[in-house]
Amino acid sequence: MPDHPKSFFLSPEIHRYLVEHGTPPDPLQEELIAETAKLGGIAMMQIAPEQGAFMTMLTRLIGATRAIEIGTFTGYSALCVARGLGPGGRLLCCDVSEEWTSIGRRYWERDGVADRIELRLGPALDTLRSLPSDASFDMAFIDADKQNYANYYGEVLPRLRPNGVLLVDNVLWGGRVVDPDADDADVKAIRAFNDQVAADDRVDAVMLPLGDGLTLARKRA
Ligand SMILES: C[S@@+](CC[C@H](N)C(=O)[O-])C[C@H]1O[C@@H](n2cnc3c(N)ncnc32)[C@H](O)[C@@H]1O
Repeated sequence: MPDHPKSFFLSPEIHRYLVEHGTPPDPLQEELIAETAKLGGIAMMQIAPEQGAFMTMLTRLIGATRAIEIGTFTGYSALCVARGLGPGGRLLCCDVSEEWTSIGRRYWERDGVADRIELRLGPALDTLRSLPSDASFDMAFIDADKQNYANYYGEVLPRLRPNGVLLVDNVLWGGRVVDPDADDADVKAIRAFNDQVAADDRVDAVMLPLGDGLTLARKRA
């Protein structure tokens, strides 16, 4: 497990307790966490283990069979969603990095979920805009470049089925969303995105204090 919780408001002790008292990462997931940690500081991009457990559970709870992920990195969240989809499910992963996603591919193979996952390398906006007009999803996860969050939302929401679920990561951005001194392009983009979701009458939304902040939105029927 990572030494420092992504849930920046939790102590390492309470974070460890919380993970151990949910469904903790299994040995394969622990191995992926450890291999990703060897990449150095960039490993902090990986979702938190409790978020992974939540995403597997949510995927199962809604009976999702078609999902899309924008931002795959070394494949941890994709592994969690693919497990939840079950046999015959399909997860479309979008990322720009062959290097990082090739790590994920190895773990998807070992876990027996590789046949559920299609990885498309290239700017996610291009991938989204190239999808067939009738492509639709039960579930979507946005976790790539923050300044494109609003663009990803604009492309993904129309493709979610009614009652479909959208998850968006890093919406608290280490607490900087409420720091008056934080005014870089990423924090501005996340604040604007959060305001947009809160005002959007096409969705119900709950911002969960899970990991670095996770918005859970349901597309209204
Ligand atoms: C925060 S990481 C994703 C973490 C991942 N969900 C996990 O569980 O480990 C963000 C990813 O977005 C990818 N990314 C950045 N800009 C992108 C773009 N324009 N299109 C697609 N992927 C992009 C990066 O290569 C990186 O792998």
